[in-house]
Amino acid sequence: MSPNSDWAASEAARRRTFAVISHPDAGKSTLTEALALHAQAITEAGAVHGKAGRRGVASDWMEMEKTRGISVTSAVLQFAHRGCVLNLLDTPGHADFSEDTYRVLAAVDCAVMLIDAAKGLEEQTRKLFDVCRHRGIPVITFVNKWDRPGREALELLDEIEREFRLKPTPLVWPVGDAGYLRGLIDVREPGRMLRYTRTPGGAHEAIEALVPAQRAALEDEADWSKAVEELDLLQVDGAVHDQEAFLTGRTTPVFFGAAISNIGVRLLLDAIVDLAPPPGPRELEAGGARAVDAPFSGLVFKVQANMDPAHRDRIAFMRVCSGIFERGMTVTRAASGKPFATKYAHSVFGQDRSMVDIAYPGDVVGLVNATALRVGDTLYADQAAVFPAMPTFAPEHFAVARPVDLSRSKQFRRGIAQLDEEGVVQVLVSDVRGDQAPVLAAVGPMQFDVVSARMAGEFSAAVKLEMLPYRLARSTDAAGAEALNRSRIVQGEALTRIRDKAQLALFPDRWQAGSFEREFPAARLDHLIAAHE
Ligand code: G4P
Repeated sequence: MSPNSDWAASEAARRRTFAVISHPDAGKSTLTEALALHAQAITEAGAVHGKAGRRGVASDWMEMEKTRGISVTSAVLQFAHRGCVLNLLDTPGHADFSEDTYRVLAAVDCAVMLIDAAKGLEEQTRKLFDVCRHRGIPVITFVNKWDRPGREALELLDEIEREFRLKPTPLVWPVGDAGYLRGLIDVREPGRMLRYTRTPGGAHEAIEALVPAQRAALEDEADWSKAVEELDLLQVDGAVHDQEAFLTGRTTPVFFGAAISNIGVRLLLDAIVDLAPPPGPRELEAGGARAVDAPFSGLVFKVQANMDPAHRDRIAFMRVCSGIFERGMTVTRAASGKPFATKYAHSVFGQDRSMVDIAYPGDVVGLVNATALRVGDTLYADQAAVFPAMPTFAPEHFAVARPVDLSRSKQFRRGIAQLDEEGVVQVLVSDVRGDQAPVLAAVGPMQFDVVSARMAGEFSAAVKLEMLPYRLARSTDAAGAEALNRSRIVQGEALTRIRDKAQLALFPDRWQAGSFEREFPAARLDHLIAAHE
């Protein structure tokens, strides 16, 4: 074994790469700030998101994100805690499922599922959890906003178990109902309670004081005995953390707190270090796996242009999967077999960038001006590797895009091509429609809003979108496409997806797809991966 592989293995062992998944407004930005504050990556809360009244590095960098209060792009925050390096990948906060989210989750080893104590599981939490399950990503749960009236703790656990078929195993238990928090019990050290004193505005860590069980029982009698009883109940029910069950997606350790006041955040951070898995071997397309101490390999999980309006550049985000990445090294792009020089490697968080000279498995590197790179690309050095392609999901919404101002056709085409390469939407074309009127296909309709905002803002080519009545896409071949376009009975249309040249057959519903199958029994019609199962 070379000294480099030992080095890669030991650095990998102290990496934790994770994402926070939640429904909008559950407190993801607040928790991100609180985590970074505890880990001392930044000295003052508020440096993460540029929300009203807070100073911000702004991971919400797009105008649209500012006005709509949603995060549609991703950023990576790196910080250290107890000798470990934590990489927090920001998932987009769309209300829809998006392919983007799926791709970010392809680059993490663990997820923190954030739940609003008053609302419980919400739509987006469910969808994101499904993605985690699909990818086999272990999930840690944090019940947030315990400083405000909310639901019963046991009731929330029931909901998780019932809906997600995932056994919650609390590692922290609240003393006092939501809105009346007296303190937290660290389940592994049950003889005491952690009491918090908030600091003004939550801008600093909340002060934790240890209160022995006897005193807690005296001072917070009813709440303390209720918490102890509940913990006993949970024990009897077998809700006990088991690392193996957690890593294989059968259980989720649960934490309670209030991100806004930094309550319970340190315990969560400790759990990420202690429980979240470090980067491990990564499955290869051809079978087998690439060990973390193998020569360098990386996976491009996101491509994003124009993050910084002043630079107008294009960044490919790559997760290091094995070996050591050194800036300037020449690697091979597996898809083309061509060399790729990594001179401009940055760490990117919102508009903050700094040069990255070296990175280890689990780290994310932003490769600037990487025009040759695409989402799903594998890069490697020395020993070839190809990671499985990122799945493309069945689109369910379709719209024809046209330039508002015909004199901006060139910018229109350039913009659409760029958004296609980034995977913001899938772009479908046909000879009949021509390239001035491509069909945009999306899994969630919010993707169209992103297209409209970016086309107008970045490419000065405002678009008109005309929704098409299709809701269903199937894959077909050239003969099937021709048959569909020829049919006078079936409502539908065949188009070519630019990204992979696949022929897609679009229908308003499955009855129309059925009548196509009856009319042309020999035509191929295959299912695509459905995002909403
Ligand atoms: P998001 O990124 O998941 O969308 O949520 P974000 O952190 O922006 O939080 C949404 C709202 O919830 C914010 O209030 C935030 O202050 C509040 N919040 C987050 N964590 C907690 C918590 O632990 N307890 C309580 N009580 N509130 C919390 P806002 O009024 O919408 O925005 P702001 O003006 O406070 O920024």
